[in-house]
Order: sequence, then structure tokens, then C-alpha cells
Amino acid sequence: MTVLDLGVPAVPGAAATTTDTSGRPADARLVDSWGRVATDLRVSLTDRCNLRCTYCMPAEGLEWMPSEQALTDDEVVRLVRIAVERLGVAEIRFTGGEPLLRKGLEDIVAATAVLAPRPEMSVTTNALGLTRRAAGLAAAGLDRVNVSLDTLRRDRFTEITRRDRLDDVLAGLRAAREHGLDPIKVNTVLMPGLNDDEAPDLLAWALDEGYELRIIEQMPLDAGHSWQRDRMITAEQVLASLRTRFTLTDDPAERGGAPAERFLVDGWTAPDGSPAKVGVIASVTRPFCGTCDRTRLTADGQVRTCLFSQTENDLRSFLRGGGTDDEIADAWRVAMWGKKAGHGIDDPGFLQPDRPMSAIGG
Ligand code: 5AD
Ligand code: SF4
Repeated sequence: MTVLDLGVPAVPGAAATTTDTSGRPADARLVDSWGRVATDLRVSLTDRCNLRCTYCMPAEGLEWMPSEQALTDDEVVRLVRIAVERLGVAEIRFTGGEPLLRKGLEDIVAATAVLAPRPEMSVTTNALGLTRRAAGLAAAGLDRVNVSLDTLRRDRFTEITRRDRLDDVLAGLRAAREHGLDPIKVNTVLMPGLNDDEAPDLLAWALDEGYELRIIEQMPLDAGHSWQRDRMITAEQVLASLRTRFTLTDDPAERGGAPAERFLVDGWTAPDGSPAKVGVIASVTRPFCGTCDRTRLTADGQVRTCLFSQTENDLRSFLRGGGTDDEIADAWRVAMWGKKAGHGIDDPGFLQPDRPMSAIGG
């Protein structure tokens, strides 16, 4: 076990970095000062995407991260290894932008699959190109996928994502199912006037196909900073809409650190024979920060303790400056000790993070 070294060197050039470790116990895991332990790592592999969802990116895209700033595959794997072997991370989610745009994804997954203890591995993707990649990803050891899909209507899909690719997404989902990347979850964001009437149709489709639908409240993470709370479809509205066609009961299973509140859908069975479920992620109206078990890495090697952090801790400088695994692990522990109690979206002084969702990783 590594004992925290309080003399972690300050990272040169880092604008906002957490360094205060007063009161931190000698615990090798990613503990924070509110008693939480991060065991779930989200790794963003690129800030680029081949869709342009209106709630995420402008039509022309964003100024992409210069390639020399992005971590190489080997650098990503080294950080993942440190997280698993030294920091107690048990679950890894690869995200983006769009992680399938990363050519080395299969290699990164394969290198992660041989770590001990082997972490659970998933990808959050828009599924474009998954028809070609699902077999290789499954062979590399990927356990499952979460696919983002907000509508089943072609005209709406094109309006929301600014690309006419609905059929490719649906084909990608089927490929994931054929290659056993399950349970397959479908993430949906509902927006007023765009797709807020579609929740029951989406659930009927997901139940038929054997996917688990999860509807997420829209969060203030859009590049255009145009999010307005009173324009957000709330979890309560989602449930009322679903209940016009389905009977939902609370899932008796322990929720743990899971963001989704899950409901059993009366009369339906999942592909594994268990009762079918639907999830609602009420990040804004019923925040679950108190049980959060996440730590995040951006594609340029910054630790973020939360989607909404105003600070980042730079691990890339340690990687490229000859830092040892011990030093990197300690810098990560220091970052997590400074994790805030909650996202504070409802606080009067709430500030949307500078980076949009596509550059943080969902
Ligand atoms: N609020 C909620 N969910 C979002 N996503 C992207 N932007 C937002 C937002 N502002 C979702 C995507 C994807 C996952 C990574 O997060 O639809 O499913
Ligand atoms: Fe791409 Fe996801 Fe952003 Fe849509 S929400 S543009 S799929 S990163």
C-alpha cells in the first residue's frame, strides 16, 4: 500500500489544481473528505464526435484538442493500470466525444482486460461504426455498451444530431447485441418540443429489442451555455409520460452509487429472464452526489472529480515529466480528496464548467 506523500510537487502551468490534503487518512483508495470512495473511472478518449447533437455541440463542431495534448494509447493504459492496481478502481467506462473515433480503442480495452483485478469495462457511444467494431471490441474483452439515442424518428434524429444516421445507430445497436455486449443500455435526453412526447414509444421499442432504456435529465453542459432549468424535462414528467402506457413499480434492488432510479415494467421480461427495467436519471431534480463513486480523466490527462468541477489536476505533466507510478497515484489521490460535496446546480452561484460534455466525457 502506498502511503500518501504530502509533498506532491505542484504541476507546472496548471491553472487550478487541488493540493490541500489536510485531514486525509493514509488510505490508498480514492477517498474524499465527504466519506465517499471513487471506484468507477470514466476515461474520455477524444473530444471529437461524428454527430453534432444540438444540446452538446454547435453545428460547426468545436475547436478540437491539439493531438499532442491528447494522451497516447500507452499513456491512457498506464493511467488505467495505476487506477486499477493502486487506487482500487473496479469499473472503467470509456467515453468521448465519441470513443469509437479512437483507432486504438480495441488495444486499450485489451490492455485493460489483463489487469488484476480485472475491471468491468463499458463504452458510452453513439454507436456509429459499431457494426464494424463490435466483434473486435467483444474479443478484446469489452463487457457492455451504453448507446446514446434520443429519438426513433428519422426526421427528429436528423434535427437533433444534425446528421441523417438513425439507421446506422440502430444497426450498431443490433451488432452490439449479436456480439453479447450486454446488458445494452440506451441513454436518452428529452427536450421540450423536440422529442418530449416520445418516452413511451422509446420504452416500447427498447422492451421489444431487449435494451434497457434510461432517460437522463438534461444538464447544463452544452457548449453554447444555453441550458435553462425551466426548459428541462424533469424525471417526474418522464415518469408521468411513461405511466400513460406502462405500469411501473420501484425496483427493490439496492441502488448503490448508480445514478439511475430503476423501475420494473409490469408484464415485460429482459433478455436474461429477469423483470424488464427502465431507468430515470434525475441528475438535476434529485441529485445523487452523496453516493457518487466516480473519478474522471479527460483525453488530455486531467483528473476531474465531477462533471461540474471548476478545477482539474494535471496527470499528463507527471506522465511526460518522468513521474513514477507512486507519484501519479498520489497526485490522483490529492485531486479526489478535494472533491466537492455536490454539483451545486441549484446554488445561486453555480457556474457551468468551461469544458462542454464532449470534452469531459459523459
Ligand atoms: N445532459 C444530460 N445528458 C447529456 N448527454 C450529453 N450531454 C448531456 C447533457 N447536457 C448524454 C449523451 C450521452 C451521455 C454521454 O450523456 O446523450 O448519452
Ligand atoms: Fe457526439 Fe455525444 Fe455530443 Fe451527441 S452528445 S455530439 S453523440 S459527444
